[in-house]
Amino acid sequence: MLPRIVTQLIGQTPIMLIEVTNPNVRLVLKLEKNNPGGSMKDRMARSMVVAALRDGRLAPGGTIIESSSGNAGTGLALAALEFGLRFIAVVDHHAAPDKIRTMRALGAEIRYVDGDFAEDEIPVAERIRVAAQLGAQLPGALFMNQQENPANPEGYVDLAEELIGQLSDGIDAFVGCVGSGGSITGIAQRLKRHNPNLRTVGVEPAGSIVFGKPGHPYYQSGTGIPSGYWVGSVLDYGCIDNGVQVTDTQAFETARYIARRKGILVGGSTGGAIYKALEFIAAGELTGTVVTMVVDGGEKYLSTIFDDEWMAKRRLLDPKIAAQLDAWLLGKAHAA
Ligand SMILES: Cc1ncc(COP(=O)(O)O)c(C=O)c1O
Repeated sequence: MLPRIVTQLIGQTPIMLIEVTNPNVRLVLKLEKNNPGGSMKDRMARSMVVAALRDGRLAPGGTIIESSSGNAGTGLALAALEFGLRFIAVVDHHAAPDKIRTMRALGAEIRYVDGDFAEDEIPVAERIRVAAQLGAQLPGALFMNQQENPANPEGYVDLAEELIGQLSDGIDAFVGCVGSGGSITGIAQRLKRHNPNLRTVGVEPAGSIVFGKPGHPYYQSGTGIPSGYWVGSVLDYGCIDNGVQVTDTQAFETARYIARRKGILVGGSTGGAIYKALEFIAAGELTGTVVTMVVDGGEKYLSTIFDDEWMAKRRLLDPKIAAQLDAWLLGKAHAA
C-alpha cells in the first residue's frame, strides 16, 4: 500500500559506511536526516503525540505545545497534521532560522521567548517556563515536555531494531549526541539488550552540563544542556559508558569536512559525534562495527556552520581539524 500520510515515511532510513585506516573497524552512519522532517526527532515527536492521545492527556482537536530548537518542533508539526492538532512551538533566537521557517511552513504557530539574550546563550529554562505556562493556560493544550516524557526514548526503539536488522554481523559500539538524552537512552538500552558488550559514548558540546563539567555558552544547536537548566528524567546515565565533550570548532569543522569529502551534508551536532567516534577509533578504544547517526542535515545550517564568514567571525575555523580527520580516515601520510 502506498503511504497516504507523510508520517508513514518516518523510519527505515539508510546506512552508509565511512572507511577508516584500521580494517578491523567500520564506522556506520545511520542517515536519520532522510526522515520527512529531516531529523531523527520525527520519531520521538510522533511517539509522544500517539502516547498522549492513547492515554487521554490529549484529545482530538487539542493543542500541542513544545519548547524546541527546531527538529522536535518539525516532527511535532508533522504529527499535528496527521492527527488534526494545533501546534505551538516555543523557540528562541538560537534556533537556526531555517528550522523556524520550516515549522511555520508546516503550519506550526511560533512563539519567541522574550528577553535580551547573548547570541550564544541558550535560554532553555525560559523556553520551558513559557511552554509549561501555555500548556496550563490554553484549554485542551498539552506541554509535551520532551525532557521528562518517557515516550521520547520509546520513540527510538524502532531505530535500534532497524539497526539490528541492517547490521546482521553485530554492532559493537554506538556514539550518540546527548541533548534531552531521549535518543541515546532509547537506542542504547535496546542495543545493549541485544549485545550486552556494546560500548556507548555520549557526546555533548563543550559548555553543556550533562556530564558534570561547568557550563558556558556554545553554538551547537539542538544538543547538550546549557547552564541554567537541568538534566531531565529521560536520560539514563546507566546506558552511557563514556560521556565526552566536543568543541564547536571540532563539531563544525567535521561537518564541513564530511560534506566536502563524503558528499553528505550533516548538521553540527552530528559533526561532533563523528569527530568523537573517529577519535575513539583512532585510540583503539572502539573496535568492530561502530554506529553513529546523522541526526539532521547540513541543509538546516547553510547560513551558519557552512558559511565561511559566519564561522570566521566567531573564530570557529581551524584547518588542523581537517588534517586530523585526514590522518584518521586516510592515514598519517595524508595529514597536512
Ligand atoms: C541537531 C540535534 N542534535 C542532537 C540532539 C539531541 O538529541 P536528544 O534530545 O535525543 O538527546 C537534538 C535534539 O533535539 C538535535 O536536534
